[in-house]
Order: sequence, then C-alpha cells, then structure tokens
Amino acid sequence: MKERVIIFDTTLRDGEQSPGASMNAAEKLRLATQLEKLGVDAIEAGFPAASKGDLEAVRAIASKLERAEVTALARATKNDIDLAWEAIKGARKPRIHTFLATSDIHMKYKLNMSKDEVLKASVEAVKYAKSFTNNVEFSAEDGSRSDRDFLCKVFEAVIEAGATTVNLPDTVGYAVPDEFREMVRYVMTHTPNIGRAVLSVHCHNDLGLATANSLAALKAGARQVEVTVNGIGERAGNASLEEIVMALYTRKEHLGLETGINTTEIYPTSRLVSMITGIIVQPNKAVVGANAFAHEAGIHQDGVLKNALTYEIMRPEVVGLSSNRLVLGKHSGRHAFRDKLAQLGYDLTDEEVDRLFARFKELADKRKEIVDEDIEAMVAEEILRVPDVYELDYLNVVSGTVAVPTATVRLKIRGEEVQGAGFGVGPIDATFNTISKMTGSRARLLRFTVTAITGGMDAQGEVTVRLQENGLVALGKGADPDIITASAKAYVNGLNRLEYLKRNQEQPAQREGL
Ligand code: KIV
Ligand code: ZN
Repeated sequence: MKERVIIFDTTLRDGEQSPGASMNAAEKLRLATQLEKLGVDAIEAGFPAASKGDLEAVRAIASKLERAEVTALARATKNDIDLAWEAIKGARKPRIHTFLATSDIHMKYKLNMSKDEVLKASVEAVKYAKSFTNNVEFSAEDGSRSDRDFLCKVFEAVIEAGATTVNLPDTVGYAVPDEFREMVRYVMTHTPNIGRAVLSVHCHNDLGLATANSLAALKAGARQVEVTVNGIGERAGNASLEEIVMALYTRKEHLGLETGINTTEIYPTSRLVSMITGIIVQPNKAVVGANAFAHEAGIHQDGVLKNALTYEIMRPEVVGLSSNRLVLGKHSGRHAFRDKLAQLGYDLTDEEVDRLFARFKELADKRKEIVDEDIEAMVAEEILRVPDVYELDYLNVVSGTVAVPTATVRLKIRGEEVQGAGFGVGPIDATFNTISKMTGSRARLLRFTVTAITGGMDAQGEVTVRLQENGLVALGKGADPDIITASAKAYVNGLNRLEYLKRNQEQPAQREGL
C-alpha cells in the first residue's frame, strides 16, 4: 500500500498574500467549501491577528467545514495564538499553526533574538497553543537557510513541547531540489523524536523550483506538503497544488505516494480561485493552463487521435476538464440550466438560480452557444463576488470616429441609486472617469487586461483591472460580450475590493516577517 501525503492548502492565507488577491469573507467561505470538496486534508483559512476581517472569515470557515482540518496562523506570541484559537475553536478539527524564524539572517536582523531566545520562544508558543488543542504545527520560518543542527534542535524541542507537525519552509524560494532533499533527510535522521510528528515542507517559487523542491522533500520522507491552488502566493507564489498532486498521481510508480485529492475537482477549483482573486492563470501553466491539453503541432494531433498516450501523459477528464464543453442555448430551460450548474459543482438556492437564469437568458439572446466558462463567469459575478458598496446598474456609452467618447452610468452606492456622466479619450476612459467621479475614488489604474473567455467573434470579454489607492492594491474582474460593459464591471469590482481592504486594514506590522 502506498503511503499517504497530507495536502495542506494555504490558498486562503499565503495565496491571499499575492499582490492584489484579496478575497472578502463570503468569497473565502465559498472557496473553503470547494477546497473541502477537492479533498484537501487541511485548510489554512487565514491569519486572524492580521485583521478583524481575517479573524471573522476564519471563524465562519471553521464553523462550516465538516471534514477538513481548519488551521489558523499565529506568530509565536500569546496574543496571536489567542486570536488564532478564538477564530478556530468552533471547528470540528482545529489546528493552530505557529511560527518563528530560525535562520541567522532573520534572527539577527528581523527578530533581534539569539538562538537561545528563539528556541525558548518556539517552545513556549507550542506549549501555549497546546493548552487549547492537541493539533499544533510549528514552522521554522526561513528553515531552508537555517543552520541544520540548530533547526533539528528547535524541531526536537517543539516536538517535545507537543507539536504534532513540524514544517520546514523554503520561505524565500532559495533551495534547489537535491540540496533540499538532502536537508530533509538530515532533519529526518538528526531529530531524535521526529517519529512523533509529521514533517512538512512549504516551498516558494522564486526560482521556479517550488514543485520540484516539494517532490524532492517527499522523496526524502516529508509527509505533509503545503500548497496553493494555481500556485498563487507571496511574490512568485507557492508550490502549486495541482502540479504536486498530478505529479504524485501520474508518476505513482516512481514516487510511491498517494493523496486524498479528488483530481476531477482540480480544474473547477482552479477556475474558482482565478475568478475570485482576479489572478489570471497563464495559458501554459502545467495542469490547469488553457493550453495544458491543447495539441498544436499536426504531428502531435495525429498521434493523439491514434492513441492519446502518444503525447498526453494525463487525460483532461482526470483533472475535471470536461470534453463536452458545448452546453446550452437560447431554448434551454431552467431545468437544464440547473442541471448544468450542478454538473459544474454549484449547489445554489432557488433564488440564486433564478438570478443566474435571467442573466443566462440575456446572454443567450446575444450568443448562439453558451459554454461552461460563460456560466462560470456568470456565477462568479452574480453569486461569488459579493458587492460590498458599489453595484453597476446601467451603462450607456457613445463613441466613434467623430463623437467625443461619453459615458452615462447609474450605480447603486450602498443601495442608493446615483447617476452621472463624463468624458474621456476613449469609451473605457470615459466610463472609468465617470465611475471614479461618482464614487469619489482616488484609485489609480495600474493595469488593464482584456481576454476572450472562449473562442469566436461573439466570445465574452473578460477584463481584469488592477487598482491602487493609498498603498492598497486590488484586482477587479468583469465579463460581458461587450468589453466596455465588462470593463465597467471589472472597475466596480476592483473598487469594491479596495473598500473591503480599507475596512479590514491590517494592524501595523501585522504582516511583517511573513
Ligand atoms: O513562507 C513561510 O515561511 C510561511 C510560514 C509562515 C510557514 O509562509
Ligand atoms: Zn509562505
């Protein structure tokens, strides 16, 4: 029998630290529910000491999930651990995850602590966390750049204090696979009580090696791997869940390990993360990129038609990519629509289905064929992304070779209708200027991207904007067959996210050191 690897997902915590990738509480809850359906063993739901909003979101997730462990992050201080416990105490399977840096550079310049002080603080933190729950993880931040013997000493002491998981992070993505494998082996053989805890790894992707390093560590005996969906995360991101899971699945004979992941939920989860965070998945991304299963060269297509295994090492269905993408049209009824939503994994109320169905009919009037991605974009806008403050009600734009581009916009601002008009150098500029004037926003547009959700001249355009205000950055997304409307939706979505960030501003220095 193959040994089992624990999949610890940190999309909601480290993933949310991707620039601009903020999610509001409702979105986090929706994603946590999907992660549980995907089959992850543990979900790091957030960092409760970072903000009140984070604490509340973690609390909501803790009370909703049934099977997965719910983890909250805490620095090695009583206050952080209290807040982490406050957030997860309602979970069926709570876990406190506390951390302190062990590398010379972090201890000297960031913490200003000696080795002895770090050792003592780590043990105290674990003991304190242990007074709330048996399930305690300790992370040695910047572990991969730490002195090996000191690292083993810290691990031995925290296991003695009750840690059930010890995590070796490659915090800055500096490790290379053979060295990291060697380091994990060293920890396995030089930490006398390692058999009483699970050894975990947490790799960042600064050199593009996070997946390779994680797999090397599993080969050497680590049995928990910390990952994010689509590999999102701080800077260049974290090890990607889908890459590691599919490597273990596809190369099981070589790696000899298994996970509890339902691989057919990988693609829907990847789409959900991208829709909620606004972070686009690069087309050539392994496993979940738009081109991951596209065969362009004639010789490859010919081979795949004769036998898929000639050029395909995984079947698209295994990761949940349905081959039957053509779904509904103008004449499809509510029943078929509801079935399709269920097939896509959405369990919605009657009221939500009604709202979506009305939108579907509008779209079907404009387009002949509606595919899965169109429906997912609708679900994201209508159901998943919760408008906090602003809602787009109406947009009319005049532009052309002779007219001055003019936009008339009606918004709901905290439920109240407001109308405005304005000009710009183009129709999108006119729309953004008008919305910005009406909302009094000072946000700067850092980036504007348009992509087509599906192929064809009548494809829906998907617009992503990146907005910045007072040091806060938010992404906004919108989809519509009309790209000016899609742009307005994206802009309004971005402003909502900025409002959410403003309300949940982190307390000073909360994120320092992560
Ligand atoms: O990268 C890191 O070191 C972390 C720890 C908090 C586990 O995210
Ligand atoms: Zn990290």
